[in-house]
Amino acid sequence: MKTGIDRISFYSSHYYLDLKTLAEKHGADYNKYAVGIGQEKMAIPPPDEDIVTMAASAALPIIQQTDPNDIELLLFATESGIDQSKAGGIFAHRLLGLPARCRSVELKEACYSGTAALQLARAVVAQSGKKALVLASDVARYELGSPGEPTQGCGAVAMLVTRDPGILAMDAEAGLYTEDVMDFWRPNYRDQAIVDGKYSTRVYLNALSETWKQYRELSGRSFHDFHRFCYHLPFTRMAEKAHERLAKANGVEKLTPDQLREQVGGTLGYNRITGNSYAASLYVGLCALLDGPDDLSDKRLGLFSYGSGCAAEFFSGVAQPGYRARLFTENHQRLLAGRTELTYQQYEDIYNLPFPTDGGKHTFAQYRTGAFRLAGVHEHKRIYEHVHESRSAG
Ligand code: CAA
Repeated sequence: MKTGIDRISFYSSHYYLDLKTLAEKHGADYNKYAVGIGQEKMAIPPPDEDIVTMAASAALPIIQQTDPNDIELLLFATESGIDQSKAGGIFAHRLLGLPARCRSVELKEACYSGTAALQLARAVVAQSGKKALVLASDVARYELGSPGEPTQGCGAVAMLVTRDPGILAMDAEAGLYTEDVMDFWRPNYRDQAIVDGKYSTRVYLNALSETWKQYRELSGRSFHDFHRFCYHLPFTRMAEKAHERLAKANGVEKLTPDQLREQVGGTLGYNRITGNSYAASLYVGLCALLDGPDDLSDKRLGLFSYGSGCAAEFFSGVAQPGYRARLFTENHQRLLAGRTELTYQQYEDIYNLPFPTDGGKHTFAQYRTGAFRLAGVHEHKRIYEHVHESRSAG
């Protein structure tokens, strides 16, 4: 029986900072960002957007095409959680009108949790025959002026997981890797990550080698059995480095630029202009590939998921014939083409805006968002609203 991704939808902020602006501010060479790390723009959430509004906005088009009563599992994957107790998915559950008969839980292991959620969802769906909704949503935030700053970003991906999936039938084999390392972490009292950047890239590459070795042994498949590869994308150059490493480990001493572009290039376009979205990032890359011109029908895709700390997985799936009819390509492209550019000052003001913690009644100004926004916070409770039920987005 096939199980996997039946629908996939991506959402990111309507605002971005051009890294040319950041380079100018820091007196850096823009090519360090555009070429060295492979990033051009980073999506910045306005004050009335958070992981819940992004996740719900990503999921809405899927819910509009599905009987919500079939969804019995809601998994919310994030490392920028808004509450130590309540799962972010429960807010999204109400906003999306999901049925009360539903399991809802939040998962965390840095950028890996989206993949953990997807695999757990598959297992439940295979057993129950019901559907699962996986929401991966994050805001990547580093200290101003730190090397991580140009790799910030935000975004969410929603995936409907079913039997006989319309987009990607996942293979049973997976290479798995866990190791206790401190390459990137965020203690509960901080709202920016702490990162040992260069070390984190080495751990990422080591986890790729380990998971690939296992996957290859379990599946009997080789490097050449894959049409395309999708990697976790903290920044797009990371995927290129990872792919060069994988090719070399499989006897391809030096990939030509054309081979590199062909094998991973199609996954990079959305991340290059939205930045890191942690748990969602691999799947933003998958959306870009699926939305692109390449016909993937019946082709096998390799996917590598990495979460600092660390946990990693190499897995695969086969794109299903007719998958294009299930995509939300137009939504994705319209959103990305219609964003508003921020000045450096606007970016810094948003970055420094404190979240109210006094228990008072706070109403947030309305910015451009998707279908949902964070209207305010009252007695420590986040108040979400459907944008069309309130004033129109200005
Ligand atoms: N033109 C072209 N390239 C240039 C350049 C220029 N003018 N100036 C520098 N570069 C190149 C450098 O040569 C270097 O290339 P190589 O890596 O190929 O050597 C690249 O730009 C980066 O420059 P630096 O080596 O000076 O590195 P940096 O100080 O800018 O830091 C970073 C880079 C470590 C990735 C930093 O951005 C960072 O800490 N990011 C956050 C952590 C991260 O994303 N880690 C990834 C693995 S962990 C993970 O995947 C989980 C997650 O999501 C966070």
